[in-house]
Amino acid sequence: MQRILVTGASRGIGLELVRRFLDRGDRVVATARKPGAATELNRLAFAHPGRLSVLPLDLAKPHSIDELVRELPLVAESIDVLVNNAGVLPTRERFGALEARHLEETFRVNAMGPVLLTQALAPLFARSGAAKVMNLSSVLGSIAERDAFYTPSYAISKAALNMGTRLLAHALADQGVTVFAIHPGWVRTDMGGPNADLSVEESARGLIAVLDRVGPADAGRFLTFEGRELPW
Ligand SMILES: NC(=O)c1ccc[n+]([C@@H]2O[C@H](COP(=O)([O-])OP(=O)(O)OC[C@H]3O[C@@H](n4cnc5c(N)ncnc54)[C@H](OP(=O)(O)O)[C@@H]3O)[C@@H](O)[C@H]2O)c1
Repeated sequence: MQRILVTGASRGIGLELVRRFLDRGDRVVATARKPGAATELNRLAFAHPGRLSVLPLDLAKPHSIDELVRELPLVAESIDVLVNNAGVLPTRERFGALEARHLEETFRVNAMGPVLLTQALAPLFARSGAAKVMNLSSVLGSIAERDAFYTPSYAISKAALNMGTRLLAHALADQGVTVFAIHPGWVRTDMGGPNADLSVEESARGLIAVLDRVGPADAGRFLTFEGRELPW
């Protein structure tokens, strides 16, 4: 049994990860911007009494992170795994019409939020030497792979998250926490759209398989949901 915190768990990949962690007996803290509206999470909490807590978190707002950190000890005294899953992708951006508000909001949610949250939760990471932080990045944030002007706010924010991953891996190495970045594949969610390659089930299965097998030697790596290395 592990204690796992998943951000952005109201839908998509985050929700499927929560389902699977619960199915195998883990205790989960799932965050949502609006817990009251997260119908499926609340149903899961009802179906798994005492094993799923749903707490509010808006990663664009640092005070929301502070509030989560204040509330968390009421439901979990330590954390074995943090899954920084929440993310946003502004659509229809094009060169010549980029807007500061899209760049800023995306950076806040996709890069700044996960880094600040990980920092804030560091005192709660289990002292077992086996704690892990899995950052949901994207191949679209790989500078080496980029060959076209496409989803700029998202790509810039995920490249920043990748650097954040690397820095956090160093910051938390002495505590024995393995921080790594992972691309979940192109997945049929609200973000990925209906034509994507993978179902949430296929992606989540791969993500959890990688999560289970990484250890300190994998800290600071950028992997795919199949465990392949991605270029930065
Ligand atoms: N789907 C893909 O093909 C794909 C590919 C590569 C990487 N990824 C990454 O995988 C992760 C999950 O993606 P997904 O496809 O499951 O996305 P999704 O279906 O669009 O779900 C996004 C989740 O993030 C939450 N969220 C959005 N803004 C937030 C904020 N300000 N604070 C806290 N939570 C917020 C959403 O909550 P609300 O319900 O409140 O909006 C929702 O739970 C993301 O980091 C994404 O970048 C996805």
